[in-house]
Formats: sequence, structure tokens, C-alpha cells
Amino acid sequence: MELITNVSEYEQLAKQKLPKMIYDYYASGAEDQWTLKENREAFSRILFRPRILIDVSRTNMATNVLGFNISMPIMIAPSAMQKMAHPEGELATARAAASAGTIMTLSSWSTSSVEEVNSVGPGIRFFQLYVYKDRNIVRQLVKRAEMAGFKAIALTVDTPRLGRREADIKNRFNLPPHLVLKNFEALDLGKMDKTNDSGLASYVAGQVDRSLSWKDVKWLQTITSLPILVKGVMTAEDTRLAVENGAAGIIVSNHGARQLDYVPATISCLEEVVREAKGRLPVFLDGGVRRGTDVFKALALGASGVFIGRPVLFSLAVDGEAGVRKVLQMLRDELELTMALSGCTSLDEITRNHVFTESDRIRRSRL
Ligand code: FNR
Repeated sequence: MELITNVSEYEQLAKQKLPKMIYDYYASGAEDQWTLKENREAFSRILFRPRILIDVSRTNMATNVLGFNISMPIMIAPSAMQKMAHPEGELATARAAASAGTIMTLSSWSTSSVEEVNSVGPGIRFFQLYVYKDRNIVRQLVKRAEMAGFKAIALTVDTPRLGRREADIKNRFNLPPHLVLKNFEALDLGKMDKTNDSGLASYVAGQVDRSLSWKDVKWLQTITSLPILVKGVMTAEDTRLAVENGAAGIIVSNHGARQLDYVPATISCLEEVVREAKGRLPVFLDGGVRRGTDVFKALALGASGVFIGRPVLFSLAVDGEAGVRKVLQMLRDELELTMALSGCTSLDEITRNHVFTESDRIRRSRL
């Protein structure tokens, strides 16, 4: 195999390897996929203002997330059904994250259970929650995640209904018969019905609570003592509400452009959220992070860390645990190089002045 030199190369290799239905499910965005493209392109419009002649013979990327020390500000976003990519699925991802010293977020819709993921051994892991109409299911699941050692809940708030991913509709996407949404197996909700549509869209319509609101964020705090990250915030207004409703952190996310199309790229929304958060809670970002330079840009605009989604799935498909390890290592190396070439030796030396955005350009042209 030719040497892989960056994270994006895994996508083509995964495409060659995976059945079309599965590759399409992983790769797709919603409708016109405008936001999917924009999540990447917006990063490319942010440029650097590097500082020179700073001793960068040592760089330190260690950080702390919700009180947990991790090796770098790059974490793994929740993505569903990882055994479609590789037989070891989420277990391989969990091992790769642990060996890189970073956090993995497990999807509610994983093909390995919270208990199975816990059994891979030590590691800091968060659990992503979809709120089902039946709150007993939610209560049980959150308890199981707590018992299995998960350290935080990432509550996904951008999915009252599933976005229209047209490839999934065309492919009549469904979970392959040998797999099951493992956390829901005992509840008889581990399979999706066969439909003439996306099987997942029908499953969501049947099970996920469309009435979810801020009062449920409060409710969640009554059933768990775990910190709650609100995943899917894009505006200052919702940032204020997240603070008022007791969130421990915010993940600026547009669900990898899979929900509402024509929302801006997450990197374009980040500053608005950071400004409103006023340091009261940490703000994270996911969406389109494929380079160490992207990570640096997000940190410069105020993020406390980033999460990656698709690169994990594609590298898992190509090379299992080793693939995911390699993705994490490549991003780490790229971030380290970007820091050195920008004159930063630790994460707190990365400032707003190290980047130049479109709004800076507009502001400057008005002067
Ligand atoms: C996701 N994402 C997601 N989010 C979530 O809260 N629960 C989930 O089960 C899933 N499942 C899922 C499956 C697939 C195939 C993808 C691509 C994404 C969204 C994910 O957590 C994250 O927000 C994005 O993937 C980040 O964007 P990138 O890195 O994929 O561009």
C-alpha cells in the first residue's frame, strides 16, 4: 500500500473497500450538501499570522477537558454503527483513543454496547445521548453508561428529526443483518425496520423525542451527576440558554453537515459562541477538521478542543485500530508542526492574533 501522508487520503481508500450503502452513509451530508463542502472550505479561508524567532525546540499539546488530562486537544466525535466499517468497530476506536491518550465519544447507536467498550480497558470516554420518547429507556441507558465508567454525556440537540440524506434514501439504508444497535438490543430496539426509505430516518421518527427542549436538559441533570455537553449549538442565543440551563460545555456542531443544510460551517459560528460563553463554560468544535492547521485555527478562535468524525470511520474501514491510531498521530504531528511554525510552544500561547479571518479582512477594508 502507498504511504498515507494525510487524514483525507483514507476517504478514497475506504470508498474502494466499503459496500456503496455503507460508504454513502458515512460520507453523506444533507440535501444539497452545501454545508458539507463549506465545513471544509471555511477553514481554507482562515489564514495565519505566524510569529517568528521564538524558541520552539519544545512544544506541549497536553490539555484538560472537564477536569480530565489528555494528551492533545483532538478528540473523537460520536459516530454511529462502526462495525459496518470494521469487525472490531467501536472497540478498535476505543483502543486507538486510549493509546493516543485522548477522549472517545461513543454514539448511542453504537454496534458495541457501553459495557463492551468499557471492557477494552482504561481510557476517558464520553457517551453521546439521543433522547428516546420512552424516558425509562433514557434513564436506564444513562445509568448503564455511568456504571460503565463514561465520564460525561454529550447530548445531541440537533436531531429532533433526521436530516434528509438522499443517498441513504436511494440506497434504502439499513443496518446489515449481522449487526445490531447494541445498547438497545435487550429492549428490542436494536434493529431498524425495512422501509422504502432510509431505515434510520424511520427509526428516528419512531423512537427519538421530537419534543426535546431545554427543560429536558434540566431533567437530565436530575437523573445523572455526569457533566452534560450540549452538542449542536450554532448561535449566541442558544449559548446563553445552554449556560442558563446548566450545561458543562458546548460543542459547536452541525452534525457533520448531516442535519440542516445551508447552516454555516461550524468554524464560522465558533467566535459568536465563544464570545457569548464568556469563559463560563468550555466551547468545543467538530465538523470538517482534517488537518492540524484546522485544529490550530479552531483553538485560535477560542475552542478548547476539537472532535473528529469521518476520519475515524474511514481509517477504521481501511486499517482498523491501526488506522485510527494513525489518524490521531497524523493530526497530532500536524498540530505540533503548525504550533512550531506559528511560534507557539503550548496551547495557551495560541491567540486570536495568530489567525486572520474573512471578517477581519472585511473590517480592515472598511477602515
Ligand atoms: C455522525 N454524527 C453523530 N453525532 C451524534 O451525536 N450521534 C451519532 O450517532 C452520530 N453518528 C454519525 C454517523 C456518521 C456516519 C457521521 C459522519 C457523523 C456526527 C458526528 O458526531 C460529528 O458531529 C461529525 O461527524 C463531525 O464532522 P466530521 O468530522 O465528520 O466532518
